[in-house]
Amino acid sequence: MVESITVKAPCSTANLGPGFDVFGLALDAYYDQIQLKKEGSGIKIQSLDSVPIEPEKNTAGLVVKEMAKKFKIKTGLVLKIKKGVPTGYGMGSSAASAAAAAVAFDALFKLKLDGNSLVQYAGMGEMASAGSVHYDNVAASVLGGFVIVRTSPFSVITVDPPKDLILCVAIPKIHVPQKKTEVSRKVLPKQVKLLDHVKNLSNAAALTAGFVKKDVDLIGNSINDIIVEPARKHLIPGFDKVKNNALDAGAMGVTISGAGPSVIAFTSIHGDPKKILNSMKKGFAAANTECITIICKPSMGAAVI
Ligand code: HSE
Repeated sequence: MVESITVKAPCSTANLGPGFDVFGLALDAYYDQIQLKKEGSGIKIQSLDSVPIEPEKNTAGLVVKEMAKKFKIKTGLVLKIKKGVPTGYGMGSSAASAAAAAVAFDALFKLKLDGNSLVQYAGMGEMASAGSVHYDNVAASVLGGFVIVRTSPFSVITVDPPKDLILCVAIPKIHVPQKKTEVSRKVLPKQVKLLDHVKNLSNAAALTAGFVKKDVDLIGNSINDIIVEPARKHLIPGFDKVKNNALDAGAMGVTISGAGPSVIAFTSIHGDPKKILNSMKKGFAAANTECITIICKPSMGAAVI
């Protein structure tokens, strides 16, 4: 009988410009690892990282709690969490833990849940950190590649990204508030102008076509958001300069990664990712902000290791 399962889940970028709460892309930059073990009674969390240890307040703990309730699991469970994804920087950190937890629970109890169900369970974990459920990051972390989250009816469509797509991520070393996602959702407009919606929708449709056609140029030049990015960019020091520098250095598209404050630039194997990241670093430096820079590619989804 299997008593313990370990799952690794990737970080992700959400929104990709015009696809707020709809698009996600798994990235091979960082991974969270979760071991789920049948032991003792109740749900216990162990971690050497700084994560909440009350199951209700922990992204992964909440997922396991909800799944145990739903599938009437009485045995005690211990969750060992090893964080690899930096928390609070728009890299889908909470989602990676939630995704790993859902996939581990499914494997431990041989539930054989389909992808949509796993994403929905993982999404419950976002409640613990974002204060609202959204599925873009969890869908990418669970399923890998490029994901489109359709909310009504709920389904996740996955598309294999082109092999020549390269992402440049600059993570500014700034203090981020606790519940950062909740904070950065509060600055968003409640209503949008029809014309703005049309522009974003046209870019979102073009971006989807870019992934389907494996056309990196089309993906890159569709990273254009006139609704969410303008409302959030003031939360990121030097954002305009970082973005313009990256575009000048040859990036095809640049936007906020998820709820920020990381900034992501899209390029291809024919571009110069180091030059793009150096220019982004200079943009942040002009706003007296240091940053960590990463060159990455799309990743596969969560997997038992
Ligand atoms: N779509 C979400 C947002 C991602 O932008 O608020 C946050 O993790």
